[in-house]
Amino acid sequence: MSNTASQPRKILVTSALPYANGSIHLGHLLEYIQTDIWVRFQKSRGHECHYVCADDAHGTAIMLRAEMEGISSEALIERVSREHQADFARFGIAFDNYHSTHSPENRTHSEHIYRALRDAGHIATRDIEQMYDPVKGLFLADRFIKGICPTCKTDDQYGDNCEACGATYTPAELIDPVSAISGATPEVRSSTHYFFKLPDFADFLKRWVGAGHVQPQIRNKLMEWFESGFNEWDISRDAPYFGFEIPDAPGKYFYVWLDAPIGYLASFQNLCDREGIDFDAYWDKDSDAEVYHFIGKDIVYFHALFWPAMLEGAGLRTPTGINCHGFVTVNGAKMSKSRGTFIKAETYANHLNPEYLRYYFAAKLTSGVDDLDLNLDDFAARVNADLVGKVVNIASRCAGFIRKLGGGSLSTHCAEPDLIARFIDAGDAIAEDYEAREFGHAMRKIMELADEANTYIADKQPWVLAKENGREQEVIDICSVGINLFRQLMVYLAPVVPTMADDARAFLKLDSLDWHTRQDVLLDHDIAKFKPLMTRVERDKIDAVTEASKEDLAEEKKMKDTPKGPLAEDPIREQIDFEDFAKVDLRIARIAKADYVEGADKLLKLTLDLGSESRTVFAGIRSAYAPEALEGHLTVMVANLAPRKMRFGVSEGMVLAASNDQGIYLLEPHSGAEPGQRVT
Ligand code: 2FM
Ligand code: ZN
Repeated sequence: MSNTASQPRKILVTSALPYANGSIHLGHLLEYIQTDIWVRFQKSRGHECHYVCADDAHGTAIMLRAEMEGISSEALIERVSREHQADFARFGIAFDNYHSTHSPENRTHSEHIYRALRDAGHIATRDIEQMYDPVKGLFLADRFIKGICPTCKTDDQYGDNCEACGATYTPAELIDPVSAISGATPEVRSSTHYFFKLPDFADFLKRWVGAGHVQPQIRNKLMEWFESGFNEWDISRDAPYFGFEIPDAPGKYFYVWLDAPIGYLASFQNLCDREGIDFDAYWDKDSDAEVYHFIGKDIVYFHALFWPAMLEGAGLRTPTGINCHGFVTVNGAKMSKSRGTFIKAETYANHLNPEYLRYYFAAKLTSGVDDLDLNLDDFAARVNADLVGKVVNIASRCAGFIRKLGGGSLSTHCAEPDLIARFIDAGDAIAEDYEAREFGHAMRKIMELADEANTYIADKQPWVLAKENGREQEVIDICSVGINLFRQLMVYLAPVVPTMADDARAFLKLDSLDWHTRQDVLLDHDIAKFKPLMTRVERDKIDAVTEASKEDLAEEKKMKDTPKGPLAEDPIREQIDFEDFAKVDLRIARIAKADYVEGADKLLKLTLDLGSESRTVFAGIRSAYAPEALEGHLTVMVANLAPRKMRFGVSEGMVLAASNDQGIYLLEPHSGAEPGQRVT
């Protein structure tokens, strides 16, 4: 493989396909940002690089989610696809194609690969016993079964492992198992399943994994797994299932994970058909193209075992590299909904510039699989110091003098050829870092150059010279060097901060900031009026993101807890003891005052009179009530709920309301009840 720009490479790149039943969050974004930076770098170097992705649209979870929302699976995946693509666009993730696994191309490729495997003898069938939900009429995956852990007797544990004691078991071993979907007691039923015979590929996989297609840490992990042997992989699911029916197997569907990676082919096929690219040149067994899958470390099994084996068995080429990354933590801990650090892409982008995050992730990314911590204080400090304080500062210090003294035109000669040559040469080492996905190293090198540029300007003090008569040309020369150095830095940073780079390109009046353009020194060249290219990260905006993320959680909880139909579909939850119930202090409250909350389109601020004291409560009832309609009414509140700090103030309790698709209904006692009275 060549790393030089002289030989264009053919490169196909993918990121993992997000499930079509959930929002994109910061954990996802690490991967899409990492991939997008790498792809933009390859394109900047002049390579033929295609970046494709799709929604992962099949499976029971999506089917049930659609049912819960009372819409078809097709309508759900359509809506979620739009939401995902809007989120990606806001973060500058520039896919060449975004498709769906529920697509004709994916059906064709899935059937083709399956038939090739079957005809080569790599598919087996046998009957297996599984838990079945007699109310919903479907087989239950382990995560849809709950019960008492057979080891430590903790209740409410999933069907495969216990979160309390860590024990692993089969769902049949759970004590008092129930379907998490209907609450019914599951039955054991038998049905025929289709299996991919992974053991047929044991030797191939050992060779493949040992041949540098995965990072060393991943290879070691896989080698450990190999020790315990290879099992056949169950690739079928029984109807009802949202997916593709298996050819010649009525009522049997491809398991979502069978057709998900084939979605990479499908999305690329869709792109090829639209743009006349030669699909086979990328996927034929003897293809000289490169194929890279960027994924999280949790889905290595599927990408480094099943996927290469499926491709090999079907006579297609296998990936050049599986590029794994670690998980995102926030402030040193797992993303947490209650701490407001489970941050959705949309929530972040409503308050903060997505390019801050792109830069911060880039500054911390390596080619390894370690987790990446988004420390919110460090995030603000790093972005402000580097992008604003170092890079933008170079242009803002120089641009004014070029306009004022040079009429907007750079000097006709270069005052510091050696300095500029060093900046140009530094591009080779930075390119190597990008290529190797050592983005953190690349960012460090770029910021060292930015320091050098700032030191040069500070030493020359053009602002002092500008006050002296007859030294105008010197000022223009110095500032022209500064602008040239800035331009080279923007070439190096463009894959990371494409919007900022595009604004810089317009300021520099250039057609392109592609990698090779760093070689051209701008002499006697007009530049535009300088506008700030990036503003500082403000701490209160970060706080607004975490507060809004807590509200997202409250919304989600409400969505989940909202009955959508008869009790059979939304069963009464597990029983609680009377002592637990007695802990909840319910009181009659009089709504003394109700106000809109600026900036919160769902909330009303209620001032509640409890007889002897008054409480402020923020309630998500704005869609149902005008504030004046509530004043004077009695309602019921939870008076001993711990106060919760929200973006708009502290909420000191909660009012009770019922809700469904049609509206929200605040509870109101019969007349005669008094504020402060206990509700029992
Ligand atoms: O883990 C996930 O979110 C999966 N939807 C990723 C699929 S990647 C590929 F195989 F499609
Ligand atoms: Zn247990």
